[in-house]
Amino acid sequence: MGKLTNQVALVTGSGSGLGRGIAMKLASEGATVVIADLREGPAQETLHLIEQAGGKGIAVQVDVSNPEAVKNAIETVVSQLGQLDILVNNAGAPMSFTPVEEVSEELWDLMMDVNAKGPFLTSKYAVPYMKKNGKGSIINISSIASRRVRPGLSAYCASKGAVILLTEALAIELANSKVRVNAINPGPAETPMLPKFFASMDPVEGRKLYEESVPLGRLCQPEDIANMVAYLASEEASFITGATFNVDGGRGL
Ligand SMILES: NC(=O)c1ccc[n+]([C@@H]2O[C@H](COP(=O)([O-])OP(=O)(O)OC[C@H]3O[C@@H](n4cnc5c(N)ncnc54)[C@H](O)[C@@H]3O)[C@@H](O)[C@H]2O)c1
Repeated sequence: MGKLTNQVALVTGSGSGLGRGIAMKLASEGATVVIADLREGPAQETLHLIEQAGGKGIAVQVDVSNPEAVKNAIETVVSQLGQLDILVNNAGAPMSFTPVEEVSEELWDLMMDVNAKGPFLTSKYAVPYMKKNGKGSIINISSIASRRVRPGLSAYCASKGAVILLTEALAIELANSKVRVNAINPGPAETPMLPKFFASMDPVEGRKLYEESVPLGRLCQPEDIANMVAYLASEEASFITGATFNVDGGRGL
């Protein structure tokens, strides 16, 4: 028996990187996992990996910044699986280092739409089902860039800062309904997203720069975040809400 047996967990952006690691961990703990991603192929690949390991899930194509698509996806999940207990808002869009005077409105809007509006929309449509069940756990993947800002990442940092305040605001609003809301700030992580932050640099140099910025001396791995998500989703964390955890090897210090 895993610690999430009989739970249904929806993980956005789980076709890749941290989201894939989170989906696989939750499945290994017994949850039925909804792999929700903009890209259908990678979502199916994650589902295949979960099934190969003996887990259960379904794949759903969704753009988290599109209200209709999010509403439909959540309704489909509840009609197929009967419940929604855990929501992990992990889908995200990066930006490469860009001086503020060169940040286009399109880039600003993309950061806000995917990174900040996405978690709002999924919560908006998932919360009614969680309230009805009398419990739920929402886990938002922000970034250590929300607390230790770096130059050239203005729109990304602002969008991730919004996630932290959304987490706290929903935690207080939903506490009476026993829906817990927490956030995780990953440090620089070994995923396909990482090189997009330093797209203007030599890739080897860029990776080295990020690795050396972590006091514990290595990049974050999907398992580091997945372990914290599994804990926050479980009954072991039943007294934790409104909290943000840095899983960053000390990068935020
Ligand atoms: N990689 C890092 O260094 C790092 C550090 C801190 C925080 N994060 C955050 O962790 C999360 C996961 O990042 P990752 O590194 O695994 O990235 P990744 O690029 O490997 O995966 C992101 C996934 O999100 C999906 N996605 C993008 N836009 C979407 C949309 N509109 N709707 C649905 N799905 C969408 C992509 O298709 C992709 O599968 C992101 O929120 C990111 O900001 C990453």
